[in-house]
Amino acid sequence: MKSLHLLCLLGVWLCPGPAGAQFPRVCCTVEGIVSKQCCPALQGSDPANVCGSLSGRGSCGAVRVDTKPWGGPYHLRNVDDRERWPTKFFNQTCRCTGNYGGFDCGQCKFGWTGATCEQRKAQVVRRDIHSLAPEELREFLDVLDRAKTTTHPDYVIATQHWLGLLGPNGTEPQFANISIYDFFVWQHYYSVRDTLLGPGRPFKAIDFSHKGPAFITWHRYHLLSLERELQTECDVCNDAMLGGRNPEDPSLISNHSRFSNWPLVCNSLDEYNRLVTLCNGSDEGVIRRGVMEGPNVSLPTMNDVRSCLNIREFDSPPFFTNSTSSFRNALEGFEKPDGELDESVNNLHNLVHSFLNGTSALSHSAANDPIFLVLHAFTDAIFDEWMKRFVPSNATFPDEMAPIGHNRDFNMVPFFPPVTNEEIYVSAEQLGYSYAIDLEVEEDGASVVVLGSTLGGVFVGLLVLLVLFLLYVRQRRSRSFEPLIKADFSNRRYTEEA
Ligand SMILES: *[C@@H]1O[C@H](CO)[C@@H](O)[C@H](O)[C@H]1NC(C)=O
Ligand SMILES: *[C@@H]1O[C@H](CO)[C@@H](O)[C@H](O)[C@H]1NC(C)=O
Ligand SMILES: *[C@@H]1O[C@H](CO)[C@@H](O)[C@H](O)[C@H]1NC(C)=O
Ligand SMILES: *[C@@H]1O[C@H](CO)[C@@H](O)[C@H](O)[C@H]1NC(C)=O
Ligand SMILES: *[C@@H]1O[C@H](CO)[C@@H](O)[C@H](O)[C@H]1NC(C)=O
Ligand SMILES: *[C@@H]1O[C@H](CO)[C@@H](O)[C@H](O)[C@H]1NC(C)=O
Ligand SMILES: *[C@@H]1O[C@H](CO)[C@@H](O)[C@H](O)[C@H]1NC(C)=O
Ligand SMILES: *[C@@H]1O[C@H](CO)[C@@H](O)[C@H](O)[C@H]1NC(C)=O
Ligand SMILES: *[C@@H]1O[C@H](CO)[C@@H](O)[C@H](O)[C@H]1NC(C)=O
Repeated sequence: MKSLHLLCLLGVWLCPGPAGAQFPRVCCTVEGIVSKQCCPALQGSDPANVCGSLSGRGSCGAVRVDTKPWGGPYHLRNVDDRERWPTKFFNQTCRCTGNYGGFDCGQCKFGWTGATCEQRKAQVVRRDIHSLAPEELREFLDVLDRAKTTTHPDYVIATQHWLGLLGPNGTEPQFANISIYDFFVWQHYYSVRDTLLGPGRPFKAIDFSHKGPAFITWHRYHLLSLERELQTECDVCNDAMLGGRNPEDPSLISNHSRFSNWPLVCNSLDEYNRLVTLCNGSDEGVIRRGVMEGPNVSLPTMNDVRSCLNIREFDSPPFFTNSTSSFRNALEGFEKPDGELDESVNNLHNLVHSFLNGTSALSHSAANDPIFLVLHAFTDAIFDEWMKRFVPSNATFPDEMAPIGHNRDFNMVPFFPPVTNEEIYVSAEQLGYSYAIDLEVEEDGASVVVLGSTLGGVFVGLLVLLVLFLLYVRQRRSRSFEPLIKADFSNRRYTEEA
């Protein structure tokens, strides 16, 4: 809160320059200003597709403004460009239907996602900045740093009042590019700036974002807008996080990402089998990401998650992929989220693996991709929620007849020193961690998509978990790296042992 306050102050102090306004770059032409119409065609489409009208996203219409009387100390009329906002600049804009949003109806309203904006967007957790580890903080600041230097893709700011907006000759729109972060600062400044009645004659008793009920809503929207930029500016988010796509080969990670250079290890399962050897950790190439086929590939929904959380039994005989009414089997993804067995089912954890395709779809190789951390952190968070809900005794974990390695007292392979399943079948809290997510949140009906329908959705929705885990692992690694096994291996064959 303190830093936000500081930001408010900076917003006022750092931008005492010429006043103006901010609009989509595409509308800031002489024709646009003269006609007062900002109804661009949906980005990258047919010029006739104004406001996405050809696909039913919206249409161009008159701006509606509040005509009710106002109170407070600002008693002037028709002297400030911001009165009846934004009609001094534009009186026709896109009016988007349903949950569509954005200046060209090319986005969804906050909280919605999907091709038709009918899916609830994954909740993004905003964590207390004081709770971030130094590495997490650095990552967050890096993103902000880039926002500070990346030109805003869509918006420009006007550098003159409305009267001078087209320059002295009426032919040169007076707009400037601005970075994403500076745009954020600029918006704040603009909302609180004084009315300029003439040189040295400011009227100060005006503030569109403080000292009234809009303080709450204004600042909420302000933050949402920046947050969206940080999320959708893919060069910022994906490369800063888990890596975006390489434009030249979409099955590779962008070479701007640190992960594009992560060598792939333990990928050649068939070769190890053929040579009767083990993975030796040598470099076997690079991580591959699957190419999503078609827009209708869908990830698990929040309802799927809720549904599996209602299964009371941890597991059921035969404690395998064909177990029914088994929380574990539903979460792993071999049975329907409600516990019903169906051979064709591929859900939750499994579904995400196969959705990611590429390296992530191969169980032996999947952990090469850092997305693995996110996926499994999320899976574990679901388990932790289930634990909290049912507080199971350790006897609910099968002590016999589970597949090898899966009985309660079996030492999990290949951990050393030995640790049994039972020792880990406790709440996360007992193991010293917790999740900054609440899977219980609201019960808001059907078709709630938790992961989003694109890879980008995965990144955004699970960012918090990524940060938690990735950084935990990194810290561990940088603290001290001990080889797992120090002994030298003779090149003994697997079969010679027997
Ligand atoms: C919008 O502004 C234009 C240009 O000033 C004007 O001709 C038009 O009548 C206005 N339309 C509305 C709906 O106010
Ligand atoms: C305005 O137009 C005049 C005459 O065409 C030209 O000399 C002058 O440079 C223009 N000013 C600007 C700011 O473009
Ligand atoms: C802003 O930057 C874009 C892309 O670099 C450029 O095409 C445009 O002319 C710039 N606009 C202004 C007002 O400087
Ligand atoms: C990264 O990829 C781009 C094109 O995809 C290429 O031009 C550039 O040279 C590459 N950089 C590195 C360091 O490989
Ligand atoms: C490690 O494994 C790779 C691939 O299986 C193989 O090509 C390489 O020769 C092995 N290296 C050693 C030192 O055994
Ligand atoms: C997804 O696409 C496939 C073919 O591309 C189609 O057969 C299937 O019906 C689609 N599913 C949905 C839910 O739209
Ligand atoms: C589960 O699958 C195993 C292995 O395919 C099979 O032996 C067993 O009979 C199945 N059990 C049930 C209850 O379907
Ligand atoms: C996974 O990728 C392969 C090619 O790499 C492709 O043939 C296959 O259809 C993809 N699977 C899915 C489910 O998209
Ligand atoms: C299993 O649960 C019992 C009863 O709550 C407890 O006494 C025992 O210590 C637990 N075992 C382990 C390994 O946690």
